[in-house]
Amino acid sequence: MADIQRVLLDENQLAQRVKELGTEISRDYAEGDLLLLGILKGSVIFLADLARAIHVPVDMDFIAVSSYGAGTSTTGQVRLLKDLEGPIAGRDLLIVEDIIDSGLTLSYLIEILQSREPRSIKVVVLLDKPERRREKIVPDYTGFTIPDEFVVGYGLDYAEQYRSLPYVGVLSPSVYQEQE
Ligand code: PRP
Repeated sequence: MADIQRVLLDENQLAQRVKELGTEISRDYAEGDLLLLGILKGSVIFLADLARAIHVPVDMDFIAVSSYGAGTSTTGQVRLLKDLEGPIAGRDLLIVEDIIDSGLTLSYLIEILQSREPRSIKVVVLLDKPERRREKIVPDYTGFTIPDEFVVGYGLDYAEQYRSLPYVGVLSPSVYQEQE
């Protein structure tokens, strides 16, 4: 696709790593009461694949927050757009994120969720961009550590586009420079 400068992670690399994460998570939660908590919308494709790679029973719930608007970098403002449907007290939560960038979204969410007294909270993230971190968040499970480039696909968007690409690609700067 012309808007993609290069493929960073292809379908095979993604599938292989998701399978490994699923195996590790299944082992760690063999005795647990696992609730996968997807952060809309970016995590949905990763969550759908990850859930099928986990071999212990899971429940799923979703929460929506927004920090980005249509641009490529965070505004620093996190808003809760949609809350979870069910209670989480006493549950083992595994927050499923597509990407951690500044860490602002996760630190805000973890604070909200902690106050509801789950038994445990862990984080699985497909992509980690540690160079951009503003909050001290270290995920419990990481798919790939990536450089500070604007990536789309496999759930990640730019202005709501590209989420359905089956790979993770670096967006051509010309795409967002046109908009700015
Ligand atoms: C993206 C991504 C993470 C967050 C990471 O969400 O899905 O939730 O930003 O950035 P941070 O670590 O700097 O907070 P976005 O607000 O773009 O919404 P989306 O998932 O609907 O695309």
